[in-house]
Amino acid sequence: MGRVVIEIDGYSYSAEIDGERRYGTDEVLLLADDNLIAGTPWASRGFTVARFLDDASYHALVGGITDVVREAVAQHTTTDLSDFTLDQYHRYLSSEIHQQVVRETVGGLAINRLPIPVRLIERRISELCGTEVCADAPYLDSPLFYIRIVRPGVETDNSPPHRDAWLDHLRNCVNIYVPIAGSNARSALPLVPGSHLWKDRATACRPSPEPSARSAWSGPTRDPTSSRSSRRIWCTVEGSI
Ligand SMILES: [Fe+2]
Repeated sequence: MGRVVIEIDGYSYSAEIDGERRYGTDEVLLLADDNLIAGTPWASRGFTVARFLDDASYHALVGGITDVVREAVAQHTTTDLSDFTLDQYHRYLSSEIHQQVVRETVGGLAINRLPIPVRLIERRISELCGTEVCADAPYLDSPLFYIRIVRPGVETDNSPPHRDAWLDHLRNCVNIYVPIAGSNARSALPLVPGSHLWKDRATACRPSPEPSARSAWSGPTRDPTSSRSSRRIWCTVEGSI
């Protein structure tokens, strides 16, 4: 067990890490993958900040996600939710009820409940990457989307710094972060410029016994269902609440 302290823009954050920790190899994981941002002016930085959708689509997305969460909350409280907003979520629910909401949504929601057409997202991310991408998860029987609710000051709602490429099913993808609610300079997604090109040796991680969550320190293991030619986006539409 150990506490890792992280400095981000002058603020100090920490995370409790238990279990074994190991360093990876000299491999740069991205070089073995399909690099979807290779042709962009921001390829070496690893990210860009850009407008996502037009106002109407963005508001439809936020409003629709609000409805999905409100419906889940309504199953567990008698509180009047007519004024419910996502950024006040943590004021409506006890931790126990929050856990119930998470249990109900953690397995994903049918894509037809996504408030906007996936194609809108695919088209915009294709523009930004300069190459055609699609939202695809070949390991799922049917397309789903996921909601992650991060309450203010609750360390266990969030993940400590990590690389998604440590998970086989997230390789050959590009991540997007869209502020949905409660996103500000202290709560939005922190990124380390250029870290996508770090050798895996540069970071320590905790190996997982789960085959679906193999850590890259053991070498690049590939999901047999994923094709090198598939160019995918991982639609991490996240927001801290
Ligand atoms: Fe991640």
